[in-house]
Amino acid sequence: MNDTNEVLCVGIDLGTSRSSVSVSNGERHMVDSYVGWPVDTVARKLVRKPVLVGREALDNRPMLDLRRPLEHGVIKEGSEKDEAAVHELLRHLVSLAGVKQKNKNRPKVRAVVGVPAEALRVSKQHLRDAMKGIADSLMIVSEPFAVAYGLEALLHTMIIDIGAGTTDFCVVSGHYPNEHDQRTLTNAGDSIDEQLARLIRERHPEAQFSIHMVREWKEKWSFVGAPKNRVLVTVPVGGKPTEIDITDEMHSACESILPPISETMIDLLSRVEPEYQERVRNNIMLAGGSSLIFGLAESLQRALSEVGGGRVSVVEDPVFAGSDGGLAIARDAANSDWEKLSF
Ligand SMILES: Nc1ncnc2c1ncn2[C@@H]1O[C@H](COP(=O)(O)OP(=O)(O)OP(=O)(O)O)[C@@H](O)[C@H]1O
Ligand SMILES: [Mg+2]
Repeated sequence: MNDTNEVLCVGIDLGTSRSSVSVSNGERHMVDSYVGWPVDTVARKLVRKPVLVGREALDNRPMLDLRRPLEHGVIKEGSEKDEAAVHELLRHLVSLAGVKQKNKNRPKVRAVVGVPAEALRVSKQHLRDAMKGIADSLMIVSEPFAVAYGLEALLHTMIIDIGAGTTDFCVVSGHYPNEHDQRTLTNAGDSIDEQLARLIRERHPEAQFSIHMVREWKEKWSFVGAPKNRVLVTVPVGGKPTEIDITDEMHSACESILPPISETMIDLLSRVEPEYQERVRNNIMLAGGSSLIFGLAESLQRALSEVGGGRVSVVEDPVFAGSDGGLAIARDAANSDWEKLSF
């Protein structure tokens, strides 16, 4: 692997809550998009590392200046710490794949990084800076397009990537998508978590919980449509573990993303050339962690009935669909497609 001329292709899905990497050497990894630095000498002594990334950072959060460097799908600007955090996150992802950073003989790294469509407009330069020293050549693509490419769903398809910070839409019609084929909404996993926390707080003002607990409850019991079972969780109330019923709150919070997603889906469909609209309607694929909300694909499919019906399905591997797609693009890309990164 350390032959000087070897080229390693890397696909990265840079996400608000999770990021994944797929590499041509067969490695695939997912990390939580958190980076933390020990806050003081005591913390440094305890964690014994200059910087922690992923689950390790999350688990040690009381000792860390913890950053989640992407918000609403774009790299937070203006804060050196957040910019450094993006760099550390990317470096960690690539090093998980076994690529040594300071080795002169390391293979040339060609990286395709998928970001929300909106981020393409605003944070391309930040991303280039963050990738310096990590990759030799870079391509930045929209996340749903990477998903479509990986699935070879490149003709008359709509991908809806429902992540944490954003929901990204892309209609793919046999060529690189342009601005009109793509949309980004901030109605996604994070907005559900915030609403769920607010609704529970309103109904149970005495209950103590954190946003991390709310996210875990959602990941276990999220649903849209009719509830199958009551959702019961145990939280401290005045220090005493107490069971509360959050079924109605879970229902309202999860359903809150349905109207904006249906509306954007139908609006994008109406802009497809008329002779292809039916094919796209029957080829809508959901990706991203929030596509796992129980009943979501069925509800969106029902929304299509007002425009003639269609089919909505969830991709097979929502966690790696983006990075696998990035890797597929990296493998196929022509030399002229790449930007060279100078160090
Ligand atoms: N089983 C599940 N049910 C509901 N939501 C889930 C489930 N698993 C993960 N999620 C949610 O999916 C989101 C993470 O998805 P994903 O990894 O696609 O997002 P991301 O790529 O980090 O975000 P973005 O694409 O917006 O930058 C989080 O909000 C998480 O809580
Ligand atoms: Mg994502």
